[in-house]
Amino acid sequence: MTGSTVGRQMPPVPAIESREGRRRRRLILLASGALVVGLVATLARSQTPDLTAPLSSAAAPPAGAVGEVPFDHTIHAGKYGMPCLDCHVYADKSPVAGLPSGRKCMGCHKFVAKDSPAIQTLATRFEAGESLRWNRVFYLPDYIYFSHRMHVRAEVACSECHGDVAAMKTVTQDRPFTMGRCLSCHEQRHATHECLACHK
Ligand code: HEC
Ligand code: HEC
Ligand code: HEC
Ligand code: HEC
Ligand code: HEC
Repeated sequence: MTGSTVGRQMPPVPAIESREGRRRRRLILLASGALVVGLVATLARSQTPDLTAPLSSAAAPPAGAVGEVPFDHTIHAGKYGMPCLDCHVYADKSPVAGLPSGRKCMGCHKFVAKDSPAIQTLATRFEAGESLRWNRVFYLPDYIYFSHRMHVRAEVACSECHGDVAAMKTVTQDRPFTMGRCLSCHEQRHATHECLACHK
């Protein structure tokens, strides 16, 4: 049970007060974050990238892109039927599902589709030791505790929460993860309704 206990240290205060506390903590975090950004900027002004630029700026890869290497679930999980857990290897053992590294891709692409420009980009990046960057599609607010492990072990299918990913050329979130959505499934499956099971 160690995997699921880590994120579950409950605050000993009622939910309303802990929200206030959370706001205060968030403010402190924001303030110290700004301080760090300021320090970094002063220490290395000449080569600092624009740390304040929004993540969705033109420089960021489009959703679903791997830097400049595209990734298509309809080929891998669809046409070739690769199991989800082959690449998202932590989904049944930890809170996060995990994303594959360049090494995982190259395990096949050392041999497969070697002449494709996209795979040549992949190989160049891998050889240069550059890690692949992925855009996040699904996310929850940071005050929510969620773990893949218990859901995957309770045999809740990936598709119940993520849709039919094997049929998506670009992964998109079909509808947001509202509290109502979590709770309506919990209702059907007789899972928890306790506030502090999901609220940190
Ligand atoms: C060959 C490896 C591979 C396989 C097999 C695979 N995926 Fe992925 N998956 C990726 C990569 C790479 C990304 C990041 C790029 C992207 O978003 O497409 C990703 C992204 C995702 C995301 C979006 C994560 C986020 O950013 O929020 C979900 C959800 C997902 N995969 C679910 C699945 C499911 C469900 C299956 C099985 C039907 C599956 N994947 C099979 C490699 C794989
Ligand atoms: C288990 C083997 C396997 C793994 C692992 C794998 N792929 Fe693939 N990939 C394939 C196969 C098979 C094809 C289809 C090749 C074809 O149609 O000629 C393919 C096709 C592709 C293509 C299209 C190539 C083209 O232009 O025709 C890209 C891009 C790609 N994969 C990227 C990735 C990335 C990025 C990863 C790692 C996240 C990855 N693949 C992991 C087997 C794999
Ligand atoms: C009960 C709903 C649910 C199920 C079932 C589920 N996921 Fe997720 N998944 C989520 C939520 C919610 C997030 C966003 C989590 C966050 O922001 O903390 C997420 C995030 C992800 C991510 C991106 C972040 C990460 O955890 O690495 C991937 C990849 C992913 N899921 C893959 C899968 C795969 C593969 C399966 C099936 C083996 C699966 N998920 C089953 C709800 C689910
Ligand atoms: C199964 C998980 C789950 C349970 C149980 C749960 N919540 Fe939530 N709650 C969420 C998620 C996920 C969100 C964020 C998404 C959203 O805003 O709908 C949320 C958001 C909220 C928000 C909005 C927070 C904000 O700052 O905007 C409030 C208030 C809230 N929950 C109160 C409660 C109370 C009170 C209970 C107990 C009666 C409870 N929740 C039980 C998952 C849960
Ligand atoms: C499609 C169904 C489904 C959805 C959607 C879902 N859950 Fe669950 N959840 C379950 C099931 C089933 C269990 C019970 C697992 C068990 O007891 O083995 C569970 C258990 C949990 C637990 C463990 C509770 C305990 O007893 O300790 C937490 C925490 C949790 N879910 C959070 C969430 C949050 C947060 C969301 C929304 C982002 C969510 N779940 C969405 C099906 C779902």
